Amino acid sequence: MNNFNSILEFINKTPKTELHLHIEGSLEPELMFKLSKRNKVEIPFKSIDEIKSAYNFTDLDSFLKIYYEGSNVLINEEDFFDLTWEYILRCKKDNIVHTEIFFDPQSHIPRGISFDTVINGIHKALTRAHTEFGITSKIIMCFLRHLDEEQCFEVLNHAVRHKDKIIGVGLDSSEKGNPPQKFKSLFEEAIKEGFLTVAHAGEEGPPEYIWDSLNLLKVKRIDHGVQCLQDDKLVEKLRDSNIPLTVCPLSNIKLCVFDKLENHNLKKMLDKGLRVMVNSDDPAYFGGYLNTNLIETAKALQLSLEDIKILIQNSFKSSFLDEKTKNNWLSKI
Ligand code: ADE
Ligand code: ZN
Repeated sequence: MNNFNSILEFINKTPKTELHLHIEGSLEPELMFKLSKRNKVEIPFKSIDEIKSAYNFTDLDSFLKIYYEGSNVLINEEDFFDLTWEYILRCKKDNIVHTEIFFDPQSHIPRGISFDTVINGIHKALTRAHTEFGITSKIIMCFLRHLDEEQCFEVLNHAVRHKDKIIGVGLDSSEKGNPPQKFKSLFEEAIKEGFLTVAHAGEEGPPEYIWDSLNLLKVKRIDHGVQCLQDDKLVEKLRDSNIPLTVCPLSNIKLCVFDKLENHNLKKMLDKGLRVMVNSDDPAYFGGYLNTNLIETAKALQLSLEDIKILIQNSFKSSFLDEKTKNNWLSKI
C-alpha cells in the first residue's frame, strides 16, 4: 500500500472527535431548500445549484451574511432536529464518536423562535445519536460578538434554565472590532453559573484577542487561533499551558485567511508543539466534513501518519469528556 493510501485508511478507520462545529453551518443546500418549502420561508435562491454557486466568500463577514440568511429557514423544533440528525449521519460516516457542537440562539430568537425550540430540537437528535449509534456529544452555546453584552446576558439566562444540556459558552461571529474585553462581565457570570468557556480568537483578529480570551474570558480552548504565530511569547504560553487550538483548515481557505491550503500554518503549529487539531467549522459552506478536512490537509501539507495521529489524539485530549473516557479512546488510536 502506498504512503497516502495508508494515511487515507488511517483517517477513515480511526475513531475521532470534533470540537469546532456550528450546527447551523451544517445546513446543506438540499435541506435549506426543503425547509424553505416546508416552512414557506423565502430564500434568495431559485435552486440548489444557485445556493451552491453563491458560496464564494472573500472574508468572514461575507460568509456570515449568507450563513445568517440560510438559518432563516429553521423555524420548528423538528427543523433543528433534522439539521442535527443530518450532521450526526455525517459523523457516523466519518467515524466521529464524540462531537462538541456550537449553536447560535441569537440568530433565531429575534425571528420569533424560542430558545427552547432550538435547544430541544438539537438535544433530541443528540440523544437519539447516543442510543442509536453510541455517538456522544456536548453542546456549547455561542454568543454573537457583533451584538452588545446586554443582549448576550438575556440569552445566558436561557442557557441557565438548560444547564443540564449545555456544557459551555463560546464567542463567535464577526471578530475584528469586537474584542474579548467587550464580554468580560458576561463570561465572569457564565463561569459563576458553572459553564466552561471557549472563544473564537485569532481567526482574522490579532494575537491580542487570543491573549485577552485567555486572560479575561478564562477560556479552556481557543477556536481557530491561527494568528498566534505572529507572537512568539503567545506561542510559548499556548504551548506551555497546553491550550487547545481548534483549527479549521478548509474554513480558513474559503474565508481567505490563507490563499491556499499548501500555505496553511497547521504543520508549523504542530511542529512548535501546539495542541492543534482539525475541525470542519461550517462544513455545508466550506466544502467538507471532518475526514475531508483531514485528507485535504494531509495532502496539501504532506502530513505524515504520525502527524495525523497526533492531531486526532490532541482532539480527544482537548475534549470536555471525562478523563476515563478520554483515555479509553486514546488507547484505541
Ligand atoms: N460562526 C459560524 N462560523 C464562524 C466562524 N468561522 N467564525 C466566526 N463565527 C462563526
Ligand atoms: Zn467557528
